[in-house]
Amino acid sequence: MEAKQQSDQVQAEFLDAIETALDLTALETLRVSVLGRKGRLSELMRGLGALEPDQRRAAGLVFNLLKTELAQAIETRRATLESEGLLAELSKQGIDVTAPVRPEQSGTIHPVNQVLDEVTEIFADMGFSVAEGPDIETEFNNFTALNIPPEHPARQMHDTFYFRERSDGDRLLLRTHTSPVQIRTMTAEPPPHRIVIPGRTYRHDYDITHTPMFHQLEGLVIDRDIHMGHLKGCLTDFVRSFFEVEDLPLRFRPSYFPFTEPSAEVDIGCSIKDGARLIGVGEEWMEILGCGMVNPRVLHNCGLDPSEWQGFAFGVGIDRIAMLKYGIRDLRGFFDCDLRWLKNYGFAALDLPTIGQGLSR
Ligand code: PHE
Repeated sequence: MEAKQQSDQVQAEFLDAIETALDLTALETLRVSVLGRKGRLSELMRGLGALEPDQRRAAGLVFNLLKTELAQAIETRRATLESEGLLAELSKQGIDVTAPVRPEQSGTIHPVNQVLDEVTEIFADMGFSVAEGPDIETEFNNFTALNIPPEHPARQMHDTFYFRERSDGDRLLLRTHTSPVQIRTMTAEPPPHRIVIPGRTYRHDYDITHTPMFHQLEGLVIDRDIHMGHLKGCLTDFVRSFFEVEDLPLRFRPSYFPFTEPSAEVDIGCSIKDGARLIGVGEEWMEILGCGMVNPRVLHNCGLDPSEWQGFAFGVGIDRIAMLKYGIRDLRGFFDCDLRWLKNYGFAALDLPTIGQGLSR
């Protein structure tokens, strides 16, 4: 038989069958029986060896064309069957687009933001407002105006990140505390002041309780006749409501900061049991913030008359009190951006009503 005839026969036998194959299994059976190693077309190809060279070339061409045609038809049919299968599968599953998002898909509030919210809310209730300042500061605001002159050892204590010196000789730096915003506030507006200043701060430090970037909340009260009693009352109320322990033992321990006089550090009563810290019970003390009456020199540096205006200031480590309140032992995890950590230590966002619920009300 002529090669063309043989080819037409195979084509008639398979092409239609391929184009109407009912499923992927039927299609695969057809493929094997025509293109497979022992299939019809391979059989014909094998017969080519017995032909004269001219005939062989012509017949080879015919068979190869058929092979391409059938292979293409199989691929087309396969694609169609696969997408039909997918659609059938999807319509069986019946996706409900109004179903609520699965809880594990929603993000969480970072402990630092959670604690900043808690803390500012407590101070807002006491009549404080929120102020902010830049992370990049001048040496003057961060040190000099706060009564830390260039040769003062406290400058070394702060492990500062400096920028290159400017042409005017001043150096910019990453602020080592939020206290420079005291200076910005007092030089920008006349007293009285009653502000808290949350923000990022930077020191060259890294271990289980220190990261090069961390968070502080500064407080500043400037008015007439402010005294240490106001400072003690305000901070006692703050610490007790933050830790939600009404009779939390508190200790004001004398300390030193160049920008406050007198200065104190506040410790809270706690104990350590099985490696975990319990707040409010036991014999141990744990330092949580620095504070003091604003040094008259600082008031003077800001153009205020210390005989007329007095006040107090304090600085709290936000990350530190977040670790204490929520039992997080290693500070470094705070800033690794590891989703598993965030899911574990993060807080649920407010459960707001969806639009659907809102409209039906
Ligand atoms: N700025 C101080 C620090 O970072 C904390 C502090 C602020 C102390 C205000 C007293 C008054 O350690």
